[in-house]
Order: sequence, then C-alpha cells, then structure tokens
Amino acid sequence: MIRPTTPDDTAAILALAVATGLAPPDATDELRDVLASHFAGTLGRDHTWVTDDDGGPVGVAYFAPERLTEGTWNLYMIAVRPDLQGRGRGAALLRHAEETLAARGERLLLVDTSGLPEFERTRAFYRKCGYDEEARVREFWKAGDDKVVFRKALAAPGR
Ligand SMILES: CC(C)(COP(=O)(O)OP(=O)(O)OC[C@H]1O[C@@H](n2cnc3c(N)ncnc32)[C@H](O)[C@@H]1OP(=O)(O)O)[C@@H](O)C(=O)NCCC(=O)NCCS
Repeated sequence: MIRPTTPDDTAAILALAVATGLAPPDATDELRDVLASHFAGTLGRDHTWVTDDDGGPVGVAYFAPERLTEGTWNLYMIAVRPDLQGRGRGAALLRHAEETLAARGERLLLVDTSGLPEFERTRAFYRKCGYDEEARVREFWKAGDDKVVFRKALAAPGR
C-alpha cells in the first residue's frame, strides 16, 4: 500500500537510504533533517513523501516542485528495500507520483541520477518507466561522475 509518509517512518527511511547505497551509514543526518523539516511543514506544502508499506515501510519516494518553474517537478528520492527490488514496487511508486502530479495538472517530472556504470540498472529503470535521457552535466557529482537528467511529460488525466 502506498500512503503518505509519517514521522514514525523516519528510522525505516534512513535505513532504506543506507541499504540502497543512497546515503553512507555515517551521513544520514541531512536526510533526517529534510524529513524533520517536512513534518514540521517548513519545506513547503507541495513537498510530497510517500511510503510503500508492506507490514512496515519497504519503499519511499519524495518529489517536490522545481523552483521558478510552472508545473515542473523533481523526484528527489526513490528507493525500494534491496531484497524486494525487481518486483514492480519502484515502478508503482513512480506511477503513484506521476498520477498524483498529473491529477493536479502538473506538466513535467524530472529525475537526476548518476552516469556511473553502477547506476545503469537505475537508468534502465527510468527508461523502462517512460523517461527520456534529457541532459547530462559532465562531472557534476564529482570528478568522473556525471549527472544524468531524465524527463517525462505527464499526461493530463483522461488523455
Ligand atoms: C531504482 C529502484 C527504485 C527501482 O525499484 P524496483 O522495485 O527495483 O524496480 P521495478 O521492479 O519496479 O522495475 C521496473 C522496471 O525497471 C527495470 N529494471 C528493474 N531491475 C532491473 C535490472 N536489474 N536491470 C535492468 N532493468 C531493470 C525493468 O525494466 C523493470 O521492468 P520489468 O519488471 O517489466 O522488467 C530500486 O532498484 C532502488 O531502490 N535502487 C537503489 C536506489 C536508487 O538507485 N534510487 C534511485 C536514485 S537516482
């Protein structure tokens, strides 16, 4: 079941970020702070966290509007517990984000990832979900690690 993320999910989301390699074990403070700000309402009303709950949190997605745009959003985080990957949970989380945004009349969803070989599976995931590789910023994350921006136009409901 995909539901809004609650403060009780915080520990599980930090563990997910570490287990999926999105955060080093000793560097989860930033993510904890983002979640705390979200629950305190200081990130902005539109910032959206959803949890995939299957007897506890097993996946998470976080999306928010891109500043200074009209209807352009960014998927800042998506993660599925490693032992449950490859079963459609990530695609379901992404679809949930797209449908939520499309229903509100939003236009575009972007996602930034890495160009490193170890992220090929993630890039294949976005391609499979209908995203186009739109841009590449060479050596963005660090020397030798490009940022790859994927883009999907959100279909208006009923179209
Ligand atoms: C990326 C991630 C969220 C995808 O979630 P998932 O539940 O594993 O993905 P799904 O099972 O929904 O896969 C959907 C599609 O992605 C593609 N995909 C999934 N695993 C793949 C693999 N090993 N190789 C190639 N493509 C793959 C497939 O095309 C799949 O479609 P199919 O089931 O019809 O074959 C998940 O793997 C994850 O948490 N990765 C680590 C964290 C991460 O990299 N997050 C993104 C940061 S930018």
